[in-house]
Amino acid sequence: MIHYFLLYFGFIIKYESVCEKIMQEQILKIKNSAAQEISLCKDLGQLVSLKVKYLGKKGELSLLLKQMGKLSPGERKRVGQLANSVRNELENALEEKMKNIKLAQQQDKMRSERVDVTLPGKKFQIGRIHPLSKVMDEINNIFIGMGFSIVEGPEIETDHYNFEALNIPKNHPARDTQDTFYIDDELLLRTQTSPVQIRVMEKQSPPIRIISPGRVFRSDSVDSTHSPVFHQIEGLVVDKNITMADLKGTLKLFVDKLYGKDSQVKFRPHHFPFTEPSAEMDVMCFSCQGNGCSLCKQEGWIEILGCGMVHPKVLKNCGIDPEVYSGFAFGMGLERIVMRRYNIDDLRLFFENDVRFLSQF
Ligand code: DAH
Repeated sequence: MIHYFLLYFGFIIKYESVCEKIMQEQILKIKNSAAQEISLCKDLGQLVSLKVKYLGKKGELSLLLKQMGKLSPGERKRVGQLANSVRNELENALEEKMKNIKLAQQQDKMRSERVDVTLPGKKFQIGRIHPLSKVMDEINNIFIGMGFSIVEGPEIETDHYNFEALNIPKNHPARDTQDTFYIDDELLLRTQTSPVQIRVMEKQSPPIRIISPGRVFRSDSVDSTHSPVFHQIEGLVVDKNITMADLKGTLKLFVDKLYGKDSQVKFRPHHFPFTEPSAEMDVMCFSCQGNGCSLCKQEGWIEILGCGMVHPKVLKNCGIDPEVYSGFAFGMGLERIVMRRYNIDDLRLFFENDVRFLSQF
């Protein structure tokens, strides 16, 4: 009986120690497999799952510890201590791993986003000012310096402003040389900048001192000296006591500024329907000083603009009394001036936009 009794107790004692040992082994097993998985882990998401798998509320360690009720208080204490130290170890390992992964990710990012500051920069192509704009600005500035203001007008004009008001009625021969693109019977692409004179005189009472640069259009076919689109600069001065002397003085000053102080000009009588008297102004060829060369076609002089005293009829058309006021006007072609300035022999170059040409200015 005693024998059996002892045997029974011996079994319990043995059973309990077996149970403790098994739990300790299982805890160590969990520790080893968790430690191995953590050490192999390379990804933050995966690391979080490992934490849940081993240390979570329903994780392997917690599930195992739920069986601690089977143990004696002494055993429970030992198993509990082991479990806590394993938990701490694994938590440390997880934290360490998390730091390492974050560091590795940061280094990867820095490596992939590395900029080589010693590489040469991308060349930035800066455009140039077109030769036409360059000389246009220069001419505008000369006149601004003489107290003129700049006024722009519409490129689509009415027959009235482009012709009628400038004393060019229907069937006037001047219309032949200024054939243009008609939008309808009334609207057309302006053939000259002179209509701006009319628009200004209608709105503004004298004194008037304006220039008007802009594009004009004619039904010309393209060749080295003609283009259906080109540029003019128009000038107009209206005040009391304006005479031909003012016209000549102003234009001579302009030429001095554009071509140099010793340039020479001459005025030849001409006809324009909107000025009376009218003239064309020539500049002595600055290449041969009047001796004749290929630039001036052996003439020694180069024609640069048309001008004259504003026709009394035109003043009257705009409501300005020609008995009180008088004025002068002029108009020049920009392309011609620029071609002579840079010795360009083909006008088409201006409009072809070839950078080899444009980058020379
Ligand atoms: N509009 C003229 C033309 O295109 C140029 C011109 C000549 C304008 C004399 C003027 C001027 O203002 O007075 O041929």
